[in-house]
Amino acid sequence: MSKPFDIGLERLIGQPSYSGVIRDAEAGQRGTFFLETFGCQMNDHDSEKVAGVLLSRGYRQVETPETAGLILYNTCSIREKAAQKVFSRLGEYRAKQSEGKIIGVLGCVAQQEGEEIFERAPWVSLVCGSASYRKLPEMIAQLEAGNQRVTGLDTDTEETFETEMTRRDDPWRAYLTIIEGCDKACSYCVVPYTRGPERSRPSDSILREVRKLAEHGYSEVQLLGQTVNSYADPTPRKLRFSELLLAVADVPGIRRVRFTTSHPSDFTRDIVEAIESQPKICDHVHLPVQSGSTTVLQAMQRTYTRAEYLEKIAMIRDAKRPIDITTDIIVGFPGETEADFEETLSLLEEVKYDSLFSFKYSPRPNTPSLAMKDAIAEEEKSRRLAILMEKQREIQTARNASLIGKTFEVLVSGKSRRENQWSGYTTSHRVVNFASQAKELLGTYVQVRATGATPNSLVGEHIV
Ligand code: 5AD
Ligand code: SF4
Repeated sequence: MSKPFDIGLERLIGQPSYSGVIRDAEAGQRGTFFLETFGCQMNDHDSEKVAGVLLSRGYRQVETPETAGLILYNTCSIREKAAQKVFSRLGEYRAKQSEGKIIGVLGCVAQQEGEEIFERAPWVSLVCGSASYRKLPEMIAQLEAGNQRVTGLDTDTEETFETEMTRRDDPWRAYLTIIEGCDKACSYCVVPYTRGPERSRPSDSILREVRKLAEHGYSEVQLLGQTVNSYADPTPRKLRFSELLLAVADVPGIRRVRFTTSHPSDFTRDIVEAIESQPKICDHVHLPVQSGSTTVLQAMQRTYTRAEYLEKIAMIRDAKRPIDITTDIIVGFPGETEADFEETLSLLEEVKYDSLFSFKYSPRPNTPSLAMKDAIAEEEKSRRLAILMEKQREIQTARNASLIGKTFEVLVSGKSRRENQWSGYTTSHRVVNFASQAKELLGTYVQVRATGATPNSLVGEHIV
C-alpha cells in the first residue's frame, strides 16, 4: 500500500541540506518522485530508505504519479497475485514515459524478472532488486545523465543497505532492518532468491541508529528481518539476538521494542528470558508455522516438525508474563491431504493464536515446490482457507472477549473522525479503539480498560 506523505520534514533524521533540497525540487518536475510500495514491512522500510536517498539528492516526494518526474514501484513477488498487480500498475503508466517521466521497478519483482521487465514493459528505465539498493545513488545519477536503461540485480553482496537519511512514515514507531536476505530454503518461497543470502547489520551501527531515533522522539522501534532471530552480529562483540534486544531496550527514550519475523528453528529460550526480564520488549512473538502437518512441513523444508514447533510454543507460554503469539499459514501446498489440513486446524485449536495471516499456496518461479506433483485445485484451496479463517475467527472472538475488564497500556496512533474516539496498540500489538475526553493523545501512552471486544480488536475507555 502506498502511504501518504504525512509527516513534517523536521522529523527527518540527519537533514544536512534540507532547505536546499526543497528549493532544487521546486525548480522542475524532474526533481519530484512518486513511490508506491507493495508487500511486507521490509519493503515498507526499504521504501523509507529509498525515499531518504532521493531526498538527499534533491528530489521531493509527491503523492501522485501525475505530478512526479520519477515514478517508482517497490514490488512484492511472494505470491503470484502480488506480482501481477505490479504489471497491471506498470500498464497504467505506459503513457507516462512519453511525457518524459522516468519509471523504475524496485524490489522482489525487479530481482525476479530482471531485464525481462524491459521486454514486457519497455517504458521502464530502472530495474533494481533490494540487494543493490546501496548503488541507487549511482543508478539515479546514470538516469539523470540520460541513460535509458539501468539495472541493479546482484544478490551476492555482503553488505546491508544503510543510508545517511531515512524518510520515516510513522512518527512514533521506527522500523529498523537488522538482517537482510534469508539463508533458509523453504521450498515454496522466493525470498532467498529475490533478497539474496543473509546479511546481518553490525550491532554498533544498529544501536547508534536507535539512539538517534530516540533523540528524534521515536519511542517504539521494530527490528525487522525475514528471519530476524537468526541475527548474527558481524562485530567482535558478537551480540546474540536476545542481547541485541536488551541493548536496544536500554537506549534512553525507547519504551517498546518489537521484532518480526521469527523463525521457529532459531527461536531459543534466551529470547523468552529477554522478554521476561525487560518489560520494554513487547510481549508478542510472530512465529510462522505454515502447516500443522509434519509431512507437509517436511515437503516445505521448514526444518522442524509439528512436535518441535509445539515445544517452542510451550516455552513461550511458560514465560513469567503472558506473550501473545501470531503466525502465518499456507493452505493447499502440493500434496496436502484432507488429513494434513485437519492437522493444521487442530494446531490452531491447540495453540490458540492471537491472530494469523493465512494464504493459499501460490506456485512461484525458481522455487523447488514448483515442480512438485499433486497440486491442489484452486477451489479446494479456497475452501480450506475459508474453513481455516472461520476457525480462527472463533478463537479470536473468544480470546478477545476474555480480555474484557483488563487494563492495557496503549500507544495512541490514531484519532477517529467521531468525536472523543481514539485508537492505538497494546504491547502485544492488539488494536484498541477507545473513548477519551482528552484534547490531544497522539503519540502518548495511556491506560485503557477494555469494555468490549470484536474478533480483531478491543473497545475500551481511557483511565485517567
Ligand atoms: N504461497 C503462499 N504463501 C506464501 N508465503 C511465502 N511464500 C508463499 C507462497 N509461495 C507466505 C508464508 C510467509 C508469508 C510472508 O507469506 O506464510 O510466512
Ligand atoms: Fe521464505 Fe522460509 Fe526464508 Fe521465510 S524462512 S523468507 S518463508 S525461505
